[in-house]
Amino acid sequence: MKTVDDLINEGVEGRTVLVRSDLNVPLDGDRITDDGRIRASLPTIQELSGAGAQVIIVAHLGRPKGGPQPEFSLAPVAARLGELLGAPVRIIELAKGTPDLAAGDVVLLENIRFDPRETSKNDDERAELAHELAELTGDDGAFVSDGFGVVHRKQASVYDVAQELPAYAGGLVLAEVEVAQRLTSEPQRPYAVVLGGSKVSDKLAVIEALLPKVDALLVGGGMCFTFLAAQGYGVGSSLLERDQIGTCRALLESGKIVLPSDVVVADAFAADAKTDTVAIDAIPDGWMGLDIGPASVAEFAEVLGRAKTVFWNGPMGVFELAPFAEGTRGVAQAIVDGDAFSVVGGGDSAAAVRALGLPEDGFSHISTGGGASLEYLEGKSLPGLVVLEQ
Ligand code: 3PG
Repeated sequence: MKTVDDLINEGVEGRTVLVRSDLNVPLDGDRITDDGRIRASLPTIQELSGAGAQVIIVAHLGRPKGGPQPEFSLAPVAARLGELLGAPVRIIELAKGTPDLAAGDVVLLENIRFDPRETSKNDDERAELAHELAELTGDDGAFVSDGFGVVHRKQASVYDVAQELPAYAGGLVLAEVEVAQRLTSEPQRPYAVVLGGSKVSDKLAVIEALLPKVDALLVGGGMCFTFLAAQGYGVGSSLLERDQIGTCRALLESGKIVLPSDVVVADAFAADAKTDTVAIDAIPDGWMGLDIGPASVAEFAEVLGRAKTVFWNGPMGVFELAPFAEGTRGVAQAIVDGDAFSVVGGGDSAAAVRALGLPEDGFSHISTGGGASLEYLEGKSLPGLVVLEQ
């Protein structure tokens, strides 16, 4: 796999380089609530711009359908990127053709998913868009793939464009892959994985792939209730995927899955709901579990304290609402306090670390890839990486 450093050694002064970044950040209106992905994307952009390249960043935001939708504009991202780079970042549009750029300039192409060809299942449609992207770079352009969070997507700006231009892996992709390799090939033991989030069905593939490799798999978040139901507990009106109970029961036979022993329940999904902490065999009818309880945090912390390798993906409860944040905070703190090689697997858990004010440097690595990290750990081949190896 050729790297961005190889490209810089070849010389980029005055050349136009297309950089695919993952700038898909959470927004509240047009306010960015977590800029982690933007900050993680900076080094590659700065490296190229500093070496005199003309940088066109390609990125997506959300999942717009059928064409441009103003609420999915990358404008707030361009503004934040400009602040972090110390120079305004202009948004450009593909339809307007090659922008006028000087050495070191950085511009951002408007949300590439406004073009339905980006995510098309039709190879020709994607190839056509990839060709147009490549044309933006002129005669001696190059492509740097640095959006680790999208390398699991076979999309025009991730996969096809790497066949149109000389392609290189960016520093973020390289760092993320190195960490993911460390988790998959001979991790130091004990190896503990913490999984949370709402839907067990989203995580079944990764659970199946991880169980043979880990020493303990700690399960919290909404998904724990389907496991608890599989053990025969009543879960009140907590999240439950009835059709997955049988699968969860089979997975429990591994003996490696650790479930909460207590939960914080509420009479409504609201910050001002009535709450209580109960043992898992005492969830009242009509109440829902919205966080793991303090006894569970202590039990999970004990396992995490002994671990030498930890991977964490998914919050333990509805951490966005203060009464249900302590489970996630407690588990994250236990990881910070331990001395394991610790990886936070992107998405909500990375946002939780920052939202709860935990020290980012308390973890060995905070991944920018949610789905991408999980698919890597599942052992799937990721199109955006495969194409860089060709
Ligand atoms: C993510 O948020 O995980 C990445 O940006 C990929 O987004 P997607 O799931 O919409 O493809």
